[in-house]
Amino acid sequence: MGWPFIGETFAYLKHHPSFSLGSYLQSHIHRYGKIFKSNLFGEPTIVSADAGFNRFILQNEGRFFEASYPESVVRIMGEWSMLALTGEGHKEMRSIALNFLSSDILRNRLLPDIEQHALLVINTWKDGLYLSATEETKKFTFYMMAKNIMSMEPGKPETEKIRREYTTFMEGVVSMPLEFPGTPYSKALKSRSEICSVIGRMMDSRIKEMNRQEDMKGNNDMLSWCLTEPKLSKEQILNLLFGFIFAGHETSSIALTVAIFYLGHCPKAFQELRDEHLGIARKKTERGETKLNWEDYKQMEFTECVVKETLRLGNVVKFLHRKATQDVHYQGYDIPRGWKFLPVLSAVHLDGSIHKDPQEFNPWRWMQNKSASAVELMPYGGGNRLCAGAELAKLELAVFLHHLVLNYRWELAKHDEPLAFPYVEFDKGLPIQVFNISN
Ligand code: HEM
Repeated sequence: MGWPFIGETFAYLKHHPSFSLGSYLQSHIHRYGKIFKSNLFGEPTIVSADAGFNRFILQNEGRFFEASYPESVVRIMGEWSMLALTGEGHKEMRSIALNFLSSDILRNRLLPDIEQHALLVINTWKDGLYLSATEETKKFTFYMMAKNIMSMEPGKPETEKIRREYTTFMEGVVSMPLEFPGTPYSKALKSRSEICSVIGRMMDSRIKEMNRQEDMKGNNDMLSWCLTEPKLSKEQILNLLFGFIFAGHETSSIALTVAIFYLGHCPKAFQELRDEHLGIARKKTERGETKLNWEDYKQMEFTECVVKETLRLGNVVKFLHRKATQDVHYQGYDIPRGWKFLPVLSAVHLDGSIHKDPQEFNPWRWMQNKSASAVELMPYGGGNRLCAGAELAKLELAVFLHHLVLNYRWELAKHDEPLAFPYVEFDKGLPIQVFNISN
């Protein structure tokens, strides 16, 4: 169980490449097996690297288990954030989130928007340009979320302000939760309140517009949706929008950067991906179409394999926080009520008994295993907290990759790799040099 109070938390959180288990998990799984106990984040905890047990934990949310994030995470994300909510409160917020991301909206509204925002970024590049992949993918996903959540346009002072504040916020999320002046965690708390005051101001002016019954056609965004939901308080809306922009841009931009990293290392996968997209683009030209539609997206089979493999090795979300709400008996283990559970998603993704040569980037493995069960690959969690933005994230990745491989090839300009802090980051922002291949 490690040291009193801190237990083994520091060893557990020590950073390592996201495509590896890290020394803590490796040594503990070797010594104690895939399910073991420890003291982490100040509480007695069961760590699970076992695919079946992880699924059991996630499928029994609300029955034997509930989400239980540490106080420091709840403080930074807000007590009304979806990570912090459980029971009915969570259900209510989740249904709003899912409505906003329904398949109809994805097809008809978000797909064209994603394409527009991908091109907005890629069209600023030039042959031979050096750039940070992290920075560029973040611009894409941030502007896309800001537009759909609050109709914020790129380049406007308020948009740029909250973009900067989210960067500071993220630095606090990945740091130790030490609340002294000047620490990244304290700065993140400050950034959070700055962002919330911008959202609050926008909310007030939207309410005024609504009261004056002005033409709201341009404002078919999440903010307007929330304001027509009578059950939601101002505080709840603030938290929902804050969390949505955060969850919606940090995760998919990192996943996209990881894809750029792996494709840069694997010319064969890059070429097969490009061939798939050249085929789609050719057919569109023959039909006299220019913009991507849902049918094009559904043809992106190899792309889907690249995305799955990226998420398996990228491990954007390494583990989740749960707590037993009653005594749990699972395959010979007796776990008392109140103990914490950390289902480690990455451990299953990197388990050699499930995935052959687990550290190898091999998108073709998913061609043979098209119906991979939710146990083998769980980048979006599972059960009734399954990521609300999973389909949006897949669509964003596919559309960005479409325009990327049609127009550019790239070389990694400096050594860099995805590191699990446990949230994934590239130390140098993944510097790349891009070369135009559109002609
Ligand atoms: C590759 C990208 C993404 C990954 C890997 C990812 C991963 C996850 C995971 C693992 C969870 C479950 C957390 C838990 O069970 O405690 C989650 C929840 C959530 N994600 Fe994502 N996510 C991604 C993109 C997105 C996007 C684009 C959005 C869009 C808004 C989003 C919104 C959410 C929301 C609202 C929840 C809370 C769901 C709930 O509690 O019911 N995510 N995500």
